[in-house]
Amino acid sequence: MKLRKPPPTIVEEPTGWPGRLWVEGRTLTHVSDVEGQAELKRGPGSKTDLEVFHNPAMSGNRTRSVLLLEQCLREDWLTKEGAPLRILDGLAASAIRSRRWLNELPVECSSRLLTTICDINPTSLSWARKNHQTYPQGTIENAAWNVEEDYENGLKFVNGDLRKKVLEHGWQWIDLDPFGSPVPFVDAVIQGLSRRAVLEVTATDTAALCGSSASSSRRRYGVRAVVDDLRHDTAIRVLIGHIASIAAKHDRIIEPLMSVFDDHHVRISLLVTKSKEKASDVFSTIGWRIHKPTEEEIQISISAGLHPAGSDGSPQISALVPYDNQPFGLIKGRVSGPLWTGPIGKGEILANMTEERAQEYCALSEMDDSETISILEKVKQNSGSSDEKIVEKILQTSSRQAIRAVAGLAEVSPVIHLPNTYPVDMLPAIIGNIAGPPSPSKLAKMLRDDGWLAERDILMVPAVRTNAPWSVIVEAIKSLSPKFSDCEE
Ligand SMILES: C[S@@+](CC[C@H](N)C(=O)[O-])C[C@H]1O[C@@H](n2cnc3c(N)ncnc32)[C@H](O)[C@@H]1O
Repeated sequence: MKLRKPPPTIVEEPTGWPGRLWVEGRTLTHVSDVEGQAELKRGPGSKTDLEVFHNPAMSGNRTRSVLLLEQCLREDWLTKEGAPLRILDGLAASAIRSRRWLNELPVECSSRLLTTICDINPTSLSWARKNHQTYPQGTIENAAWNVEEDYENGLKFVNGDLRKKVLEHGWQWIDLDPFGSPVPFVDAVIQGLSRRAVLEVTATDTAALCGSSASSSRRRYGVRAVVDDLRHDTAIRVLIGHIASIAAKHDRIIEPLMSVFDDHHVRISLLVTKSKEKASDVFSTIGWRIHKPTEEEIQISISAGLHPAGSDGSPQISALVPYDNQPFGLIKGRVSGPLWTGPIGKGEILANMTEERAQEYCALSEMDDSETISILEKVKQNSGSSDEKIVEKILQTSSRQAIRAVAGLAEVSPVIHLPNTYPVDMLPAIIGNIAGPPSPSKLAKMLRDDGWLAERDILMVPAVRTNAPWSVIVEAIKSLSPKFSDCEE
């Protein structure tokens, strides 16, 4: 008889502890003593040298998660007013994300969280627990977890494979933050959600999502994608489309709340709701992106409500078309998809991603965080720093990090529901006789002045998201950009 391996147990004293001390948001954490772990914007070079994985370059992703959760709790999207929320940090590593939720949310929100952290690596969990014990978020009277079993001051630690553990409850919020692709987890995670829930997903397999690794795009997502300046928008749509189709198999529909392509990863936040009837209609928001579409394809896109009317017959960058209008043969270099053709975010959510809110909840404040600041100050002094402005610099860095996490999001909120974005560097080649791309801010302003919705987009390249018809965009660009003929004079 084959003997089963016993499940790994959580070791109490973490190997490598205390490593290096780091602060993210307003939360202290110890991370492995390895280069890239306790440095701004750097990630670990290799996963194998680490006792516990921590990527400081993901701090913005976690800051936005604190802000989204605050809005969800304040507005009671998922529960009755003031009721507890069952939340799973599915691939938790050091549990920095859950610890930030507990530490940085106002107490009326954090006290409602029933947070479980799951990781397959027992050493990660022992670091998470040790961090939680070393820097507890303080005792909260009337907290939801006080009357539940197995919570250690607000966190329940679960060691094992997420794909099994997720099915043990109906979760109202799941965070899925894997190494690389989320694909191996999506099916199980969708099944573990309650009838109405938020699912936040990170994907770092951007080459597969953007189409630059054609074999992984096909194998993992069943898509083909064109690698032009629309690749970031395409990547977001490929990931949402993939999750929407899996959700539909389990009688669920998704509504994107916020989607961000942030440097080396894509992050999407979705509202997932049970509805067999609506799930049957999933292909109404899945389709194709045609690059350099023909006039006939543009007309199909306009009829489907995926493109502004007003084509002047001149070449355009791209058009989204419905699934049933699959272009013949999926000609390489011309078609991306299948992908999500619906909105990639909600204006009401992005409008709340303001610098003020990010600073209020996620930046250190001299008044509220004096203990944390003095710990950080001592660490700097012990490392030989005699800088008299240590505290000032700690506060400035913290504030900058919070602001950076939400850069451009509130500004793009009025147009995020629109299907069309125009990367400005693609425009000269398609319009012709202009010497360079227009400034995205100037182009957006000119279109707004003309009565259209238009804002600088938050893609990784300069772009404008607008509902202006192509003929109007072309005229605006011509009046903003120098013409070749002008340059020659
Ligand atoms: C990218 S890290 C997570 C980072 C973390 N969410 C954060 O914000 O710092 C991925 C984690 O998933 C864990 N992991 C990998 N496969 C898993 C599985 N099947 N079930 C549970 N955890 C798993 C790894 O041990 C690792 O700690």
